[in-house]
Amino acid sequence: MSSIARGLEGIVLTETRLSEIDGDGGRLTIAGFPVEELAPRASFEEVLHLLWYDRLPGAGELAQLRERLALLRVLPPSVLDAVRATARARLEPMEALRTTTAALALADGTPGDEGDAATLDRALALCARLPVLVAAHWRLLHGRRVVAPRAELGHAANYLYMLSGELPPPAAARGVETYLNTVVDHGMNASTFTARVITSTRSDLVSAIVGAIGALKGPAHGGAPGPALDMVFDIRERAARSGASLDDEAEAWTREAIAAGARLMGFGHRVYKVRDPRADVLDRVADELFQDAGDRRLYDDARAIEKVALRVLADMKPGRRVQTNVEFYTALVLHGAGLPPALFTPTFAIARTGGWIAHVLEQRAENRLIRPRVAYTGARGREWEAIEARG
Ligand code: ACO
Repeated sequence: MSSIARGLEGIVLTETRLSEIDGDGGRLTIAGFPVEELAPRASFEEVLHLLWYDRLPGAGELAQLRERLALLRVLPPSVLDAVRATARARLEPMEALRTTTAALALADGTPGDEGDAATLDRALALCARLPVLVAAHWRLLHGRRVVAPRAELGHAANYLYMLSGELPPPAAARGVETYLNTVVDHGMNASTFTARVITSTRSDLVSAIVGAIGALKGPAHGGAPGPALDMVFDIRERAARSGASLDDEAEAWTREAIAAGARLMGFGHRVYKVRDPRADVLDRVADELFQDAGDRRLYDDARAIEKVALRVLADMKPGRRVQTNVEFYTALVLHGAGLPPALFTPTFAIARTGGWIAHVLEQRAENRLIRPRVAYTGARGREWEAIEARG
C-alpha cells in the first residue's frame, strides 16, 4: 500500500478549468480572471454563465438567463410546505436549507431524467431557489410572512429584499453580489469534493448539492464567519468593560483562546499560506460599506483585532503561516449588508452552488468514479464466539 495522504493534502484529484489557487502567491483565478478583477464588476448571473459555459454572456444571453432565474424564484406550493415544516420544527438555517434543497425534488418537472437538458434545468432551479429557501425559512422562523420575489431585481438584491421585505440600499446589494462572486468557486475544497464524489457515482445533481451543503455546514469550512464576528464583538465588549485598550484585550483574548487549544475563526487555510486574496477583495467591500452604512468604528476595530491576532498567531504558532482567510471579512461584509450571523453560512451556500454545479458538470463529462483506498489498522485473525460465550 502506498503512503497515506491524511486529509488528501497535496493530492491532485483531477483537472479543472474553473478556478486556480496559488497558495504561496496568494492569488485566485476564476475561469481566467483574477478574483479582484471579476468579483467587484460582474453580476452573479454573469459569473454563473462564465463558470458553466466558459465565457461571459452576451447581452441577450444575460437577459435570458436573468429572466429564467427570476421566473424560477417562485416556489411551488409543495416546496413552500416543506419550508414551513422546517420553520415549525425550529431547524437552524443550514439544516433547513439541506432539508428544503432535497425537497426541491417535490417540484421536479422531469423526475428521474438525468440527461443534460434536465440537469441544466435543475441547475437553474437550484441557483434561483436557494436564496428563496433561505429567506422564506428565516422569515417564517421569526413569525413573519414570506415575501414574494421581485423579478426585476438581480440575484443578490432579490435575496436581500426577500429577507427584509425592503429594497436594499444599492451599496448593500453590490456588496453581497461581490461577496457571492468572490466565493463562488475555490478549487477542490471539501464541499466541492463532496459534490464531485456524489456525481462520480452517477448520482443526480440535487443529491450532489445536498451533500455539498452538509459539508459546508462544518466550522472548519463554511461555519466560521459567525464565530469570527462573535470574537470581534466579544473583544470590543471586554475592552469597554475593563477600560483596557482594544489592542490589549485582543491580545489577551486571542492568547487565551489559542492556549486553551481553540482556533481563531477567520484565520488559517489548508492551501493559502499567505493572506487569502478573497480577504482583500472583501476588505475593500467592507471599507466601502461601512463608509456609507454607519458603524465605521466596527470596521476599524475589526482591522485592529486582525492585526493583533496575526501577531499572536505568529508568536504562538511559529512557522505554521496562519493568515487571515476569507471568513473574517465575510463576517464584516455580510453584517454590514444587514444579514444576521445565522445566515452567513447559508449565504455562502447560495454563492457556492454556482461553483458546485460547474464542478458537477465537469465531473459528469469526465465521469471517473472517485474511490480512494484506506490502510487497515484493525485486528486480524479473530475467531467467532457465540453470544453465550462472550461474557
Ligand atoms: N487558530 C489557531 N491555530 C491555528 C489556526 C487557527 N485559526 N489554524 C491553524 N492553526 C494551527 C493548528 O492548531 C496547528 O497547530 P499545531 O501544529 O500546533 O497543531 C497548525 O496551525 C496547523 O494546522 P492544521 O490543522 O494542520 O491546518 P489545516 O490545514 O488542517 O486547517 C483550517 C485549516 C481548518 C481552515 C484551520 O486553519 C482552522 O481551523 N481555521 C479556523 C476555522 C476557519 O477559519 N475556517 C474557514 C476556512 S476558509 C473556508 O473554508 C472558506
